[in-house]
Amino acid sequence: MRGIFATTTGWMILLVVITVVPVLAWNASTSAESIHAEQERLALSIASAYVDEIVVARRWVSEHAGVWVVAAPDVEPNPYLPEGERELETADGTRLVRVNPAYFVRLTDELLAREGGVSVRVTGFDPLNPHNAPDEWERQALERFAASPDEPEPAHAIVDRDGVPMLRYAVALAHEESCRQCHVDDVTAVGDVRGALSLTMAYEPFAATADDLTRRSWLRILALGALAFALVGILGSMLVRSEARLRAANASLEEANAELARQSEAKTQFLGTMSHELRTPLNSIIGFSGILSMGMAGDLTPEQRKQVGIINSAGKQLVALINDILDLSKIEAGRIVLVAEEFAAATVLDGVVDIVRPLAEERGLELRVSSAGAEGTLYSDRRRIEQVLINLMANSIKHTDSGYVAISVVPGVDVVTFVVEDTGVGLSAAEIEGIFKEFPAVAMDSRQTRAVGIGLMISRTLADLLGGELMVESEPGCGSVFTFRVPRRLPEAPPQED
Ligand code: HEC
Repeated sequence: MRGIFATTTGWMILLVVITVVPVLAWNASTSAESIHAEQERLALSIASAYVDEIVVARRWVSEHAGVWVVAAPDVEPNPYLPEGERELETADGTRLVRVNPAYFVRLTDELLAREGGVSVRVTGFDPLNPHNAPDEWERQALERFAASPDEPEPAHAIVDRDGVPMLRYAVALAHEESCRQCHVDDVTAVGDVRGALSLTMAYEPFAATADDLTRRSWLRILALGALAFALVGILGSMLVRSEARLRAANASLEEANAELARQSEAKTQFLGTMSHELRTPLNSIIGFSGILSMGMAGDLTPEQRKQVGIINSAGKQLVALINDILDLSKIEAGRIVLVAEEFAAATVLDGVVDIVRPLAEERGLELRVSSAGAEGTLYSDRRRIEQVLINLMANSIKHTDSGYVAISVVPGVDVVTFVVEDTGVGLSAAEIEGIFKEFPAVAMDSRQTRAVGIGLMISRTLADLLGGELMVESEPGCGSVFTFRVPRRLPEAPPQED
């Protein structure tokens, strides 16, 4: 589990759970509330249907000043009606009993009691019949009815009777003209509230239904929740696993990178040591072969002198090659530190030409120098720019057997472009590509290194470091044109102070 929370996915899952749980709980509670409200509305509509019917029937009885029915064991004369107005005997001896509205409601209640679940009665303040006295709930309803200026709204409540929920419902009974037939001395004005018709109904079935529906909605929500969590869980665990895999892959990649850096470092150190080790004996070879060829150790035959001369120049070439390799490995290891200074473009040209002139003369080549475009100054690493140009010139001289090698400058606002041109053997497309490839790939192909010296690769890398670029245009047998474009200001160099 701790592993999971080490990942962002783990936290996302936690977030989903934190948001989803309250939403589900809220949903469940509101649906429970609305289910209970719905059941209460249903119970109320049933209660009001009963009451409305009884009120209408009762009014009919009132309008007929009570109804006369044949006496029966359960229909006896009402002692609250005046003497002589309660019962009659017809000519054929049938006993009739007068049923006033309140009595009619009592008889209805007896019928309803047989069905079970509902009971009704008439109530009012100062009752003629003490049994009609209101209970606490009815008293409050009556008070509210009496206080209401318009036709009062029915009263209702769900009350607890010995642990059983009951619905209580009451409507106001207004005093009407017909009521005066019996309520002769009544002080209540017509239209005012005289009493109430009160109904009590078992609420248990509705409450049970509501509870049942709520339980089902809870189950549904729980099922939905479980489904949602299962989905989130599956998706989450998939994400967590793929994230873990990604982390592992990253870690091993970082390790591999570190290992590579270590190896590159070791290579540079090795090359440094090796070149030092190689240069010491080479310098002896160069030195002593020089002494020999000068005849300082005794006279040599012309053939011997020629051979010693070859040893001497081969040694010099080897030292140059070793220096190049060392340089390249330094560039690769990012150990070259550029040193920017302000200098005139023309001075670069002078410095380069001084160095390469003897080489050109040695090869019997014409050296064309056009300093016309060498205008303005540069703020860059002068030594490295010169190194690039010397490399380019030396390369051209080396691969040109006849004709000329030329260097010229094209001035620009932000850049200076040096162009080195020769009439040499030229480069094939593959050889040109070689210059822009990494060092080992080219070095392995001996056929290419013959034409594309390490010097060109160093030049290309240095051009990049200086924020410039090196381009070649060439075709085998048609000479080459090298274009070295370098910005006047070394990128990220401190601002020039004028
Ligand atoms: C036929 C005579 C008669 C008529 C008509 C009549 N009543 Fe009554 N009423 C009685 C008698 C008698 C009682 C009391 C005895 C009883 O409970 O039956 C009573 C009781 C009541 C009660 C119960 C409170 C109490 O005083 O006991 C109310 C409320 C009431 N009547 C309202 C009315 C209204 C409103 C009307 C007109 C729509 C009306 N009555 C018409 C005879 C009548």
